[in-house]
Amino acid sequence: MKKAKIIGLGSYLPKKVLTNADFEKMIDTSDEWITSRTGIKERRIAADDEFTSDMGYEAAKKAIEDAKLKAEDIDIIFVATLTPDYIFPSTACLIQEKLEAKNAAALDIQAACSGYVYALSLAKALVENNTYKNILIIASEKLSSIINYKDRSTSVLFGDAAAAAVVSQDGSGLEIQSIYLGASGSEADLLILPAGGCKNPASEKTLKEGLHYIKMGGKEVFKHAVRRMQQAIEKCLKETNLSEKDISWLIPHQANERIIDAIAKRFEHLDNEKVYKEVVRKFGNTSASSVGLALDFLKKENKLKSKEKILLTVFGAGFTWGAAILENN
Ligand code: ACO
Repeated sequence: MKKAKIIGLGSYLPKKVLTNADFEKMIDTSDEWITSRTGIKERRIAADDEFTSDMGYEAAKKAIEDAKLKAEDIDIIFVATLTPDYIFPSTACLIQEKLEAKNAAALDIQAACSGYVYALSLAKALVENNTYKNILIIASEKLSSIINYKDRSTSVLFGDAAAAAVVSQDGSGLEIQSIYLGASGSEADLLILPAGGCKNPASEKTLKEGLHYIKMGGKEVFKHAVRRMQQAIEKCLKETNLSEKDISWLIPHQANERIIDAIAKRFEHLDNEKVYKEVVRKFGNTSASSVGLALDFLKKENKLKSKEKILLTVFGAGFTWGAAILENN
């Protein structure tokens, strides 16, 4: 059996930049606080008339082109997002229409910030068992639409962006060697958008109480993120009989530089430049898009050598988490 590979990558960033200096004018915060607690310097904000489907479409076009395919070659589209254009229809259907991917089925995946790796896992299985030939995965987030810009504990953390990948058996690219996924619903309340679903439909009360904004227990989420990503890495390495030393590049979920540093501790052999942090510094936490952006940048920087292994690890609301090992072929 030929292993599934990522044969095309793409990403999209909105134009508007929101810097820490901009936040200093909006709320009681400082560049020093944000940088020392998170590593974030800037983030991108989508235009008022620019939505998750628009950003996802732009990233997808680039990934399909990079894979040297046409939209009609795509068999199914997965969109990982926690900020869909609508609850229904799916954002995947909206992007399928924009792409004119006439032969593609389409569905959304809700695994919060872990969505890219969850989508990759499904794509790997469906390609390797010959159900589909070419699968387009897209992660796209307009997090600015669910942020309370008066809440300093969450507003400084998040940004908007999209990333995409084409997974196939044919062609050369990043072979998906192993993926591990995990979840635990018992901490669901620690990171949640309380209103807008059937439990708390939009009402005067939900609006008044700001329940359509992200709520997060930052300190607890921090601890769970470190622990779960560490566990995911362990499982993924074990499954492939690899050790930390076999890994050439580490891409943890780009949520917070301190979380990344805590995870990188066990990869003592890796130089700092091989632990990816650029995305969180420049674009903040872009949820499902974050590791996809990092992967696209890393590939296009042309620093990857043949046979080098990349380890992705993710964590998000749910809680969900995961890790993937890719080999550059
Ligand atoms: N500017 C200045 N002060 C602030 C700000 C801000 N933007 N935000 C909070 N503070 C204050 C708090 O009010 C608190 O003040 P107090 O002591 O007077 O009450 C103080 O700073 C310390 O707050 P803590 O919550 O203890 O700060 P902490 O060191 O935990 O850092 C942070 C907060 C950055 C949110 C951290 O907890 C974190 O990164 N958590 C993980 C968040 C995360 O990554 N979530 C996403 C993962 S999953 C996903 O991506 C969806």
